[in-house]
Amino acid sequence: MDFKHYLQVLKDHTPYDFSNYSDNSIKRRLQKVIADNDLSIDELLAKTQNDKAFVEQLVEDITVNTTELFRDPEEWPAFYEVLLPALKGKKTFNIWHAGCSSGMEVYSNMIILNELGLLDKAKIYATDISHGMVRKCKNGNYRYEFNKRQLQAFETILIKHPIAGISKVDFSKYFDIDHEKDQITAKEFLRKKVEVKQHDLVQEKSPFYCKFDIIFCRNVLIYFNATLQSKIYQMFHRQLYPKGAMILGSHESLTGFYKTKFKKNGPLYVKTNAFHYKYH
Ligand SMILES: C[S@@+](CC[C@H](N)C(=O)[O-])C[C@H]1O[C@@H](n2cnc3c(N)ncnc32)[C@H](O)[C@@H]1O
Repeated sequence: MDFKHYLQVLKDHTPYDFSNYSDNSIKRRLQKVIADNDLSIDELLAKTQNDKAFVEQLVEDITVNTTELFRDPEEWPAFYEVLLPALKGKKTFNIWHAGCSSGMEVYSNMIILNELGLLDKAKIYATDISHGMVRKCKNGNYRYEFNKRQLQAFETILIKHPIAGISKVDFSKYFDIDHEKDQITAKEFLRKKVEVKQHDLVQEKSPFYCKFDIIFCRNVLIYFNATLQSKIYQMFHRQLYPKGAMILGSHESLTGFYKTKFKKNGPLYVKTNAFHYKYH
């Protein structure tokens, strides 16, 4: 199958444009969808054009949704070390988790903010391209045994690198645990705190009217090519308050023109100078 032709059909008949993703990962995943559904090329094209539910599932299947509670645990103390002085001085602040997957990053952040006594001041927004991931983020429902390991790993890091005095967290304050079903569910006060929306970063427009103090976009842009990455950096720069911070994944780094518009401070990219944007 001509992969580029397929992405063009997808773009022409659905809201989704994957043509500026790095080829390999999408290609491999698309091949798996075709094999798993036992589809001929004609069937794939017909479903892409006529079957909305198939397309939504396809989007979920060809994007990478891997995430964890307190993913890269050593990064979290580092985030707050740099962010805390600025956040403490604010009456309110806005945080956007772009590419939130099932929401584990969002709940991790809210838990720490709550431990620091800052959650009440925070407005938390989260978006993902996949409707399925948006539902999961709203539900805040995860496997228990697997995630227990993550929570323990995070606590181990906290002992070495406490965040403003926090070296232990009572996770039963934040999750209801069902041992029989091997499930944890984020408590209602956390689930209600976050506004979760389906949103495609490729559209290059913010889904919210406000500006942000912090934008988390970890392990998302790594799947985009340099041209698309640059457009998203531009949008984030526009959506951040002066001195607002962008947080990328631990294996990602800002390259290209926008490197000059953010100053790296530990794991954060802090918006430096405002400049004039073209109106679209
Ligand atoms: C690997 S996960 C990262 C989740 C979380 N940020 C973390 O680091 O653990 C990448 C997420 O980005 C989402 N994504 C991919 N393309 C996107 C796009 N164009 N707009 C918004 N989200 C997108 C995927 O659906 C997936 O849930």
